[in-house]
Amino acid sequence: MPKVLVTHQLPGEQIHQLPDHCDMNVWMGPGLLPAASLRDELTDCEGLLCLLTDRIDKALLDTHPQLRFIASMSVGVDHIDVKAATARGIAVGNTPGVLVETTADASFALLLAAARRLVEADHFVRGGHWRVENAWSPEFFTGKDVAGSTLGIVGLGEVGQAVARRAAGFGMKVLAWNRSARNVPGVEMVELDDLLADSDFVSINVALGEETRNLIDARRLGLMKRDAVLVNTARGGIVDEVALAEALSHDRLAAAGLDVFEREPVPDDHPLLSLPNVVTTPHIGSATLATREKMADMAALNMLAALGNEKMPNCVNP
Ligand code: DGY
Repeated sequence: MPKVLVTHQLPGEQIHQLPDHCDMNVWMGPGLLPAASLRDELTDCEGLLCLLTDRIDKALLDTHPQLRFIASMSVGVDHIDVKAATARGIAVGNTPGVLVETTADASFALLLAAARRLVEADHFVRGGHWRVENAWSPEFFTGKDVAGSTLGIVGLGEVGQAVARRAAGFGMKVLAWNRSARNVPGVEMVELDDLLADSDFVSINVALGEETRNLIDARRLGLMKRDAVLVNTARGGIVDEVALAEALSHDRLAAAGLDVFEREPVPDDHPLLSLPNVVTTPHIGSATLATREKMADMAALNMLAALGNEKMPNCVNP
């Protein structure tokens, strides 16, 4: 039977079918599979079922010429060199669709939390400052109205559209920019620079790729309103983090809600982590148990199809 490496214990049902079709080796931890162990454990494996934390680059593919298929439990595949995999005839699968609503909820949660300074206020209460300072004033913890404001969505794919549906409930005007044409009721398509200049809230929902790396750079951040809020649940590499920290610390931007960073886990001394106007979460946009079970099932079904010499139901190779 072909050998398959699974880089983490997975939830869901479908994973339990795999041992009937392959010699399955699951990394049991503790923690995430280190890169050096991934290289070793992959020896002789034809299949790899991985997470977005596993880096599958050209060098790894070069040292494992026997690898035939990769199923990632993620919709994003920027951790995999898909071009190099395709050139070697390796099928790559992902898990689109099932995390759309969950991730849009996370975008909105960060948007509201950043707008209304929820984390800062929570720390204030828990730190005893409310009681000690007996503080309350008309300007006390004032934030920014969401209802009736303008939301700019960068990337009007499935998650972007789900964010737009939530925005409609808040009576927001919705602008969007997308690399290809889109026609979504209630959403006005605009140029990216115009979106940044006209929005009170900007939600990043575009995939990370060569064309979107550093898309929101210092110049583009400079176009945003001084009291605007930026939310990113897509990928860290889309926003220039140094420029973002500069803008946030010099009152050129009101706040940010960030679920993703260029380097994850984000280092403790990252400049964005010292700013009170940043609300952050550890890449948990799709983290509900129900969604994670669906993602794991999709990844396992991709792997099962590949093991049966069939096309993966969700294959990203061009
Ligand atoms: C993905 O699947 O790419 C998401 O980032 C997970 O939250």
